[in-house]
Formats: sequence, structure tokens, C-alpha cells
Amino acid sequence: MTVIAFHDFANSADWQKKLQPYLDGFTLVDLMSEEGRLADIALVWAPPPGRFAEMPHLKGIINKGQGVDHIMRDPTVPRHIPLVRLVDPDMSDALSHWVILAALDFWRDAGYYRQNQRQKIWKPIVQRPATGAVVGIMGVGAIGSVVARRFAMLGFSVRGWARTPRLIDDVSVYAGADQFSDFLDGVNILVSVLPLTPETDGIMNADLFNQLAKGAYVINGGRGQQLVNTDLIAALESGQIAGAALDVFHQEPLPDTHPFWDHPAVTVWPHVAAQTNPNTAAKQVAAAISAIMTGREPDNRVEWARGY
Ligand code: OXD
Repeated sequence: MTVIAFHDFANSADWQKKLQPYLDGFTLVDLMSEEGRLADIALVWAPPPGRFAEMPHLKGIINKGQGVDHIMRDPTVPRHIPLVRLVDPDMSDALSHWVILAALDFWRDAGYYRQNQRQKIWKPIVQRPATGAVVGIMGVGAIGSVVARRFAMLGFSVRGWARTPRLIDDVSVYAGADQFSDFLDGVNILVSVLPLTPETDGIMNADLFNQLAKGAYVINGGRGQQLVNTDLIAALESGQIAGAALDVFHQEPLPDTHPFWDHPAVTVWPHVAAQTNPNTAAKQVAAAISAIMTGREPDNRVEWARGY
């Protein structure tokens, strides 16, 4: 019997049901209970720091989301056992839909027309074509490559930026720090779906904004810490950046007093761009548990040295 410690136990019933068809002989227990302390596997999102170090039988940790930075920043997390992140095509789809929604809302001046509608103003402005507009996607791995290909299908000129060179149909991929400035140069819509690592912390800053096209739009579906908030506000004030759609923040929930809430050019989303869906994620979670319990290497194991 595999004992799986579940954080946020009150919401475990759905996972219990969805894992059942894929996994024989398991029980879900509360991560914070004594049974949880003695569990084989932890299935978690944002667990309390220090908990894994107290679990003597723990063989693997499975994150119920894509980003693992919140787990990796806990220095007590054991590194010799697998830490697995979700890479769910359903979540990549959802994220790509959110990014495209935000980008087209900006590019087709939806905010202007919404505002005019409230005042019953019928005043068309010249439509901006997709052709020639440059979308830059920072992070073109499993998720970002889906986003990039979909923008290309919409007729945008698409660039991707990755740690290492790769080929993606209809996307110009730039790699590493050396090609970062060429990647940024003249981008109209900048998207981050990067993981948070020491290299990406604070990457969206004044220097970066100044390399984009004047009046560019910023979409952050990566992590809040990648954005230097004060630099974004200054760039919005100067007009270098026209607006931003943000799904992730330094502090979540975003504090009531944060200037992003009231900024007319910022759209705040409460970390919902790609929500975990047990219907689609359960199969790979079960596969990871089976692999770990039988001593095989699970898919999507986090590399500590790489940072995700
Ligand atoms: C994330 C997620 O990693 O929501 O942000 O899965």
C-alpha cells in the first residue's frame, strides 16, 4: 500500500477519485498528520517549509503545479529523492489561451473599445496587423513552445528565447545570455513563461524594457519575482511600455495596497492562467508514483543544478 501525503487535504477527494483508475493500492493522508509524516510520497502545492525533512520514509515529492521554485527554495528539502513537476499538455493549452487572450486584447485595442462602449462612443481607430508585429516568448520549453507555435499560426512574427538552441517550426529561437539583446530588440509583445531561477529573478527590468519596441506590452505567466515592479511602473509612466497582463506576483494574493490593482494599464489575474486539472494530470502523477515506488526514474524530474 503506497501512502501518499496530500497537502491541502480538505481538497483531496477529487484526486483520490481521479488517481484510482491508474494506481493500485494507495491511500491519501494529510501531509500534516502523523500518518502523513510517515508517508512514501508527497503530493503537494506550496507545502510548509521544513515538512519533508521530517518524513523518514519519503521516496519522492510530486508538485501539483508546473513551477517548483517554492519547493526548491526550502533548503531542508531532501535532494536525493525525485522531485517531479507537472508538465500537462492541458495546462500548456490553458496557458497559451491566456497569453493569446491578453496579447490580442492589447493588440486589437479591446480596452479602448470597452472604454468607448461605456460612453457610447463609436470611434474606430486604425487596426494593427499581426504581420510584422513581433511576439517574443521567454522560455520555449514544453509550455512556451506551444505558446510560440500558436502565435505563429495567428500570423505574428515569433521569437523564442531559451537557455540552449532548439528548433521550433516558424519560430526564431535565440539562445543564452549572448543572444538575449538580439531577441529583445524591437519586440512588441513580450511574454514570460520562464521558471524562476537565479538567472531569471528580476529579468524583466528597466534595461529589458528599453530594448523592446516603444509601447510594447508585457505578459507575465512565469513568476512574479521575474518582474521588477517599480521598473514596470516607471516604464508605463514613460510610455515605453503600454500595458501589462500579470498572472503572478512577488506576493500572492496581491496585497490590497499594491499599485497594480488600480493601474489603468495593468490587468491583474489571480494566478489562474493555467490551473491544475486532476482530470488530465492524474495519469502522469500516477505514473510518477509508480515509477518512484518501483525504483524507476520518473518523467519530469527536476534537476536541482538547472533550477527546474
Ligand atoms: C504554476 C502553476 O507553477 O500554477 O504556477 O502550476
